[in-house]
Amino acid sequence: MIGLRRVGPDEFVSRLGSVLDIYTAAMDPPAEQLSGRRTIMGNHATHPGFTCLFAELPDGTPVGLAYGFHGAPGQWWHDVVHQAVAERHGAAGAHGWLGDALELAEIHVHPGHQGKGIGRSLVLGVCEDRPERTAVLSTRDLPTVARRLYRSLGFVDLLTAFVFPGGHERYVIAGAVLPLAPERPGTGPRGAGAG
Ligand SMILES: CC(C)(COP(=O)(O)OP(=O)(O)OC[C@H]1O[C@@H](n2cnc3c(N)ncnc32)[C@H](O)[C@@H]1OP(=O)(O)O)[C@@H](O)C(=O)NCCC(=O)NCCS
Repeated sequence: MIGLRRVGPDEFVSRLGSVLDIYTAAMDPPAEQLSGRRTIMGNHATHPGFTCLFAELPDGTPVGLAYGFHGAPGQWWHDVVHQAVAERHGAAGAHGWLGDALELAEIHVHPGHQGKGIGRSLVLGVCEDRPERTAVLSTRDLPTVARRLYRSLGFVDLLTAFVFPGGHERYVIAGAVLPLAPERPGTGPRGAGAG
């Protein structure tokens, strides 16, 4: 039986080793990227409105996690994505999607526990009772389980084939109006269309 537990920023930082273990098992990143990823995650915990859920075994071992925070100017991801969405959808579109957004930074489930509904529960739980108008995220622009999951939760593609500065892989930037409406297609926040 897996339980979901909310984890504050202090505990999140103190458990970064476990967080990185799940991240590594789920994403299989190059080893040389792990220390930079640890720094980025620790920095995320200082952002306003930080929220995190651990999915844990009965003995407390975490096997999945999801976290996010309130996006704001000055944050690297926010600034890069805001500019790119503005170029594609105009200033009003960028404001509509990113002006009051929960930014979902990481969602991972250990491979030994995937496909049991944990990822879906984590995303729904992290997005529950948030004050923001939207939730936004980036994910690889490939036909992955993650992408299908986000679609089924109401996320729509705001940008496709997007390459972050300094990167080479293609990403999708996706957004959903809060509260999430699973199985119902997203419609766009207050006039900000996704097309
Ligand atoms: C993406 C991820 C978090 C989803 O977590 P999960 O616990 O495996 O997903 P769930 O069991 O909640 O299933 C979510 C959906 O995917 C489907 N699914 C799950 N595993 C699947 C598989 N192996 N093949 C096909 N579909 C699958 C489920 O049927 C479900 O569909 P639904 O939402 O239409 O009902 C997890 O697979 C993962 O950590 N992947 C690797 C890391 C990653 O890509 N993270 C996201 C980065 S943006």
